[in-house]
Formats: sequence, C-alpha cells, structure tokens
Amino acid sequence: MGLTLDEHGRPLGSLRISVTDRCNLRCQYCMPEANYDWIPRSEILSYEELALVAEAFAELGVTKVRLTGGEPLIRRDLPTFVSMLSDMGRFDDIALTTNGVLLADQVSSLTRAGLNRVTVSLDTLNSDRYLRLTGSDQLSAALAGIDAVVEAGVSNLKINMVVIRGVNDDELADMVRFGRQTGAEIRFIEYMDVGGATRWSGDVVVSRQEILGLMETEFGSVVEVSSDKRAPANRFELADGTTFGVIASTTSPFCGQCDRSRITADGQWYTCLYARSGFDLKAPLRRGADMGAMTDLIRARWSGRIDRGAEQRTIDPQRGTFVSVSELRRDPRLEMHARGG
Ligand code: GTP
Ligand code: 5AD
Ligand code: SF4
Repeated sequence: MGLTLDEHGRPLGSLRISVTDRCNLRCQYCMPEANYDWIPRSEILSYEELALVAEAFAELGVTKVRLTGGEPLIRRDLPTFVSMLSDMGRFDDIALTTNGVLLADQVSSLTRAGLNRVTVSLDTLNSDRYLRLTGSDQLSAALAGIDAVVEAGVSNLKINMVVIRGVNDDELADMVRFGRQTGAEIRFIEYMDVGGATRWSGDVVVSRQEILGLMETEFGSVVEVSSDKRAPANRFELADGTTFGVIASTTSPFCGQCDRSRITADGQWYTCLYARSGFDLKAPLRRGADMGAMTDLIRARWSGRIDRGAEQRTIDPQRGTFVSVSELRRDPRLEMHARGG
C-alpha cells in the first residue's frame, strides 16, 4: 500500500494516544485552573478499543506510538496496553511521556511489556519551586522515577522542561548538568499558547535564540547536530559532547514536517495540537466497524488534512491565549492535557 499523504504531502507517521485526561499534578502552564471537567468515564475507550485504533493507524503507515495523558501512569494496568501494542509487532517505537511521579514503581513492568523510550517532564530541580509550579510536593518522587528509568537501562531518556521567564529560566545550566549526570537529554521547550495554557503571554516565552544565548554564556561553544526532521526538537552539542534539544514550537513551528495524530482517551482524533475539533473514531468503533472501514475513514480524513496550527499562531505577535476559559469549560478536549501535549 502506498503512503497516505495529506494536502501538504505529509505522511501519517506518529500516533500519540492520551490514555487519560486526568493528572496528578497541576502544572501552571498546562492545568492552572482551580477546577476541571473530565471526560466522563463511560466515554473512555477500553485498551482493546484503543488497540484497534492503533492497529488501523499502523495499517496506514504509522510506526511510532507515544502514550501520553494527562498523566498516563494514572490509568490502571498500563503495561497491559503496552503489551497489546508490542504484540502487534507493527511499531518500531513505543514511547511514554510522563511526569515521572509514579514511574519508579512501574518502569520495569512497562519495559518488560515492550516500552522502549521514556520522556519525563521536569521543569525545576528546586523542591519549593516544584511545589509552586505543579501544586504538589513530589519532586523527590519524580527524581526517583528518573533514577529508576536509568537503572532499568532504558536508552534515550529525555527530560522536557518548559521554560518560563521569571519562573525557571535561571535553571537551564543546572538542568543540562543534571542531564549530563543522569545520561538524559534535556529538551528546553518554548512555552506554547495551547488550549489549557490560560496564563500564557508572549512576554514570558523564552525563545530558542535566547536559550542558545544562555547556553553559550554558560558553556561556550554550542553546535547544532542532526535531528529527526519530523521531530519537534533541534539538537545541539556542547564542547564536552553533552547534547540537548530545543523545541521552538512558538517562534519556529515545525508544521511543514508534522506527521502527528492524537487520539484522546474517548477516541477523538485530532490532526493538530491547535485543532478546534476532532474526528470521532469511537462511534464507528462501537458500531462495530471492521479494520477496512476504520482505515478508509482515517485515510479519507488524513488526505484532506491542511492543519498548520502553530504556524498560524505566529501571525499575530499581540495574540492572547488560544482558547478562553469559558470555551475550555464547554469542551475538555480543547485542553492540552486531554490531547496529550
Ligand atoms: P519524540 O520526538 O518522539 O522524542 O517526542 P516528542 O518530542 O514529540 O514528544 P513530547 O511528548 O516529549 O513533546 C514535547 C513537546 O513538543 C511538547 O511539549 C510540545 O511543546 C511539542 N510538541 C509535541 N507535539 C507537537 C505538535 O504536534 N505540534 C507542536 N506544535 N508542538 C508539539
Ligand atoms: N507549552 C509547552 N509545552 C507544554 N506541555 C504542556 N503544556 C505546555 C505548554 N503550554 C508539555 C509538557 C510535556 C509535553 C507533552 O507537553 O511539559 O512535557
Ligand atoms: Fe502539527 Fe499542528 Fe503542531 Fe503544526 S501545530 S506541528 S500541524 S500538530
């Protein structure tokens, strides 16, 4: 079967499955509000249903799958789902994005089940700041999670740090040292005005250019090295060989190469992080659509895809947040924590 390409010639390549919209932290840049409306439990797809969806994407050329949330480790028996994906034999990359708090207990069963890559979100190494930033005093648990990944011998550990001016932009060098010490690659992420980032403003975005300037001041020479063209991070190397990444989704979007699909826990398919609405895969699935029908639906939708959400967001430098709190209240799937970051 030939590649399924969208209107901009982008293939279907990577699938992000948000297994739950719930989270055990309340990061300022993602879930800063006091209350959230959750996707009702009855709407959440079972692992069997999610596996069928994943298989349909695999039929159309998807080879990479990433489990996200909310916090994916909150969902019960995640290793069972990883085994189901792994047993399909269709994915050469099964990855996880987590805040790490529950990772120490679960990492061995996840890797035994077939997980081969882990990314931990960690925005500070200071416990008071961690408490302020996440609403929870769990830095030591997150660090224990990172240690456990290293002990389990998982290669390719990455740490995501969303950089916010006046909040954690004085910790970039410490993070790089921490990465060097643990063998993890640090990725600095520009703060994005995605759904859920209700406190976003352009003033607190620290740009890739600034981040690289700070790195040069601290460590001297910074040289760009090759990176996967479809991945959001540009990678850089310091004189001692330490590498780090920068994800410049705000100032330099990578929409032109974007091969990503996102599935929410209730089976809505989003073809862009900034899409206002998704495409319902749950209804056909629960009506008993077979694999052929599911792949036809997905192929047809992807063929008409024109999304370039982050690029369009760069047009107005005076822009406010992407969606208002009242809109977010009406549709929880507009939130980053529902569509998996
Ligand atoms: P790999 O490339 O597989 O290592 O993972 P990743 O970088 O795609 O995944 P991760 O979950 O670590 O995402 C890191 C950051 O990339 C997120 O915080 C977002 O800022 C950004 N990002 C991820 N996916 C998208 C996307 O589809 N569009 C945009 N604009 N940014 C994205
Ligand atoms: N801007 C940038 N990254 C964000 N994430 C969540 N919200 C935002 C935001 N507003 C990140 C998390 C996680 C990744 C999946 O998405 O830190 O690492
Ligand atoms: Fe892809 Fe949309 Fe993100 Fe652009 S903004 S990289 S099209 S998901």
